[in-house]
Amino acid sequence: MKIFHTIADIRAQIRLAQCASKSVALVPTMGSLHAGHLQLVSRAKEIADVCVVTIFINPTQFGEGEDFDSYPRDLGKDLNVLEELCPDALVFVPSIEEMYAGGATRTWVNNDEMAKYLCGASRPGHFQGVLTVVSKLFNACPADIAVFGLKDVQQFFLIKKMVVDLNINISIEGVPTVREEDGLALSSRNRKLSPEERDQAPFLSRAIFAARTEIEEGVRDGGQIEARMAQELAAATHGKIDYAQVVLTTDLAPVDTIRSGDIIIAAVAVFFSNARLIDNVIIVVP
Ligand code: PAJ
Repeated sequence: MKIFHTIADIRAQIRLAQCASKSVALVPTMGSLHAGHLQLVSRAKEIADVCVVTIFINPTQFGEGEDFDSYPRDLGKDLNVLEELCPDALVFVPSIEEMYAGGATRTWVNNDEMAKYLCGASRPGHFQGVLTVVSKLFNACPADIAVFGLKDVQQFFLIKKMVVDLNINISIEGVPTVREEDGLALSSRNRKLSPEERDQAPFLSRAIFAARTEIEEGVRDGGQIEARMAQELAAATHGKIDYAQVVLTTDLAPVDTIRSGDIIIAAVAVFFSNARLIDNVIIVVP
């Protein structure tokens, strides 16, 4: 497995592969890799000849008081896990200086319209940091396809919109959320839960899957479903509910009346004492 630290080196390597008519898939991550990330790598291997994984904890997507300093870091372990799964992978591990031109970055990518809902409402500036770093990664690593998890559903739809809006020549592939047996979506932040919170955390997935059942059974009032999800979370966890919402995939705006043929997202977020967890399910309304 080859590891690169500079934009010039990874870009040259990707160009070389493309000149040899090989397709390249990119998997951006912040490291601390778990089975969810590895599912993206497996998907990248399936759909392209060359897999590029990036490991970069992007400071600009963490707000003040968020967990940038305590975000789990274990590069040695990440590289071992990747080597085992994908010995041919190209791994890009840039420094902050390399990615942000020594701190001189003045240009930012924004989509305030779609970032104002869901996670963006309680994390001002988060999606500006995400869209900026993802566009930087797309420029540094000019792959043909980029693979993202649907667990971060707002991030996924914002990136899909960004590549259309900015004419970025890359196709975006989504991978369904990988879960523990009890339904909890895998996340590097799960390790920050107390044992009691870990027992409560699967209720996020129960709340969204119950929403899917309600919609399949004909409930069409978005507000009613949101209230039920919030009630269930309040009863089952000691966490503070950030949101429990039903939104459209097109613009991420809340839906009052759900219509047949809509593609919607039931999404929840809960603050536990040391971690904020999110979960969602995409539903094609029958
Ligand atoms: P990170 O949280 O490390 O996640 C990297 C990728 O793994 C994202 O596409 C995310 O949606 C996916 N992922 C995480 N948990 C998953 C799970 N349980 N099942 C499936 N996929 C999962 O998301 C980021 O990093 C950053 O915002 C990034 C895009 C790298 C930009 O900095």
